[in-house]
Amino acid sequence: MRLVHRAADLGTDRCVLVPTMGALHEGHMSLVRAATEVARRRGEPVIVTVFVNPTQFNEQSDFDRYPRTLDADAAACERAGADVVFAPPVEEVYPPDREIPVPPLPDVATQPGLEDAARPGHFAGVCQVVNRLFELTRPSAALFGEKDWQQLQVVRALTARGGPGVEIVGLPTVREPDGLAMSSRNRFIPAELREQALAIPRALEAAAGASGDDPGEAEALMRTTLERAGLGGSIDYAVVRDAQTLLSPRRGRAARALIAARVGPVRLIDNAPWCPGDLAG
Ligand code: PAJ
Repeated sequence: MRLVHRAADLGTDRCVLVPTMGALHEGHMSLVRAATEVARRRGEPVIVTVFVNPTQFNEQSDFDRYPRTLDADAAACERAGADVVFAPPVEEVYPPDREIPVPPLPDVATQPGLEDAARPGHFAGVCQVVNRLFELTRPSAALFGEKDWQQLQVVRALTARGGPGVEIVGLPTVREPDGLAMSSRNRFIPAELREQALAIPRALEAAAGASGDDPGEAEALMRTTLERAGLGGSIDYAVVRDAQTLLSPRRGRAARALIAARVGPVRLIDNAPWCPGDLAG
């Protein structure tokens, strides 16, 4: 395994890519392990990028305190079978003498009442860096987690426009034993608020259990579950949407329940499939 800081040292013009911001946990590592399988079949190396992208943060304080654990990340990638960890400095991604374009945002990035409403500009930064990382590493496939469901749909829409033909692979959310979706930000949840945080996966379960065909009822159930845990005032959204377009759910199409809420100092997002069988009926 090689740790590389400059694109010129990557030494390959094809790869299977896992883009990350580091502070790697089991969720990330499930992507890296899956990438090694895809890469073996294609005869290509696995590159894991570790880059805390400044253009996708809404708050400077969130960027500043984002955990940076490169040595441990590189060791974990080596154990998981990655070939290269690419950890570029900011000027390698955003050269001072060249403007890196922000691609036009796909519609799915700005559906009302979701991430874009709470974090304006976030997906512009994500699209900008994903395109740039693709340009630097030229992947044939890139792996993303369903944990960031909206991001996955945005990246799919971005690459569906044509471009270099990168295959986007989505993989299921890895959870802590207590059900909380793994996240690099979980370490900032105060111990006394952990129970409150668990209301998020419970609310998603409650929605899935309400197997009527009324998304409004499922949304009400999610809100009640979050409110009972004391998160009522901290909800950014708790909704059911079409899994792909993120518009209102439609009969015959897969749907997804999506939640964002603040637990103490930490904003958490999570999602789960919602009664696809019922809507398909
Ligand atoms: P980051 O938050 O580091 O996540 C990197 C990848 O790991 C994303 O595809 C994310 O969905 C996935 N991931 C995170 N937690 C997961 C979990 N519990 N289970 C499964 N997969 C999980 O997402 C980003 O970085 C950035 O926006 C990035 C795409 C790298 C662009 O900067």
